[in-house]
Amino acid sequence: MKILAIDTSCDETAAAVVEGRRCLSSVIASQITDHQVWGGVVPSVAKRAHEARIDTVIAHALKRARVSSDELSAIAVTLGPGLAIALEVGIATAKKLARDWKLPIVPVNHMAGHLFSPFVQNRNGNPDRPMVFPMMAVLVSGGHTEIVLWRNHLDYEVIGRTVDDAAGEALDKAAKILGFSYPGGPIIERLAHQATEQDRYQFTRPMLRSPSYDMSFSGLKTSLLYQYRSMSADEQANQIAELAQSIQEGIFDTIIRKTNRALKAHPVQALTIGGGVAVNRRFRVLMRRLATRHNLPCITPPFRYLNQDNAAMIGVVGSYLLDAGKIAEEPENLDRMPRWSLPAYITVAQQTIHLKQRTS
Ligand code: KG4
Ligand code: ZN
Repeated sequence: MKILAIDTSCDETAAAVVEGRRCLSSVIASQITDHQVWGGVVPSVAKRAHEARIDTVIAHALKRARVSSDELSAIAVTLGPGLAIALEVGIATAKKLARDWKLPIVPVNHMAGHLFSPFVQNRNGNPDRPMVFPMMAVLVSGGHTEIVLWRNHLDYEVIGRTVDDAAGEALDKAAKILGFSYPGGPIIERLAHQATEQDRYQFTRPMLRSPSYDMSFSGLKTSLLYQYRSMSADEQANQIAELAQSIQEGIFDTIIRKTNRALKAHPVQALTIGGGVAVNRRFRVLMRRLATRHNLPCITPPFRYLNQDNAAMIGVVGSYLLDAGKIAEEPENLDRMPRWSLPAYITVAQQTIHLKQRTS
């Protein structure tokens, strides 16, 4: 069954056509340059950019997949989490197309998309990775940082999360402190690579003693701010790479230690990663090392575009949901859920959206 998927949760306007786990086309219109001048994502700017591009992005996705609307079985759309007025654009478009083409809508959680991103395939079905459960998934994006115990395709539980900033958000804020623009993650990675001394500043990692798998990053960022302010302009300039490396290491080290603890308590078959920060090479090295220590494979998104926001991952979740009959019973009443958390997925889907078995 072919599905058109739409994601407008943040600053990428994305559409894709998928069939099962196979991605037939994926189109992503990035808004980074629209937001860069403001130093971060501005919701009203995102909304206008989504509105201006969504129809073209969808048309391209269908064209590249060489699929017409009558070949589609459903439309999958991200309901949340994300920016409310940005999400609305994708949902309104999905509703209109569902009406015009008489298709069901499958509501999808954006973080479930990142969860499935290591298992998205190209149009030839590669890579053909089996999904062997249970797995431990570490999701690191601009809005979320979560350790997820993934028991089966649609059965997952967030067992650890950030109590304040997300990892990507902390990197973005750190870059801002050091005088750089948005998005900060790739800038911090580049700077960190140039550091001659590793973890020179050893910023304190909060919450490491707490027995939970929860994490905190805002204290690390504040330590960076104080350190930076205490330095002369010359020192700041000379130490920029070491400062970036130290903050990046502090954030990643926290995630690694908490994931290590989670892996010790929960026997799993694989460690997976997803989300915008998962593209970071240092993060991948640390995660692979951790997986090896636990004798596990480390499964990463197979294509670079799958780390950033995209609609292919939304479509793949949509395929599993469609197979399970989880379509919206009252598609016209679907509303954005900006704070929709991952474990609430099935509960919310069943109780609020009134899902029903597809009849046709
Ligand atoms: O998943 P994503 O594209 O959007 C959200 O759903 O939030 O993640 C965006 C985040 C941003 O915070 C960005 O700074 C971070 O991913 N990021 C990186 C890198 N590239 C993007 N963080 C670390 N290293 C990178 N190379
Ligand atoms: Zn995302």
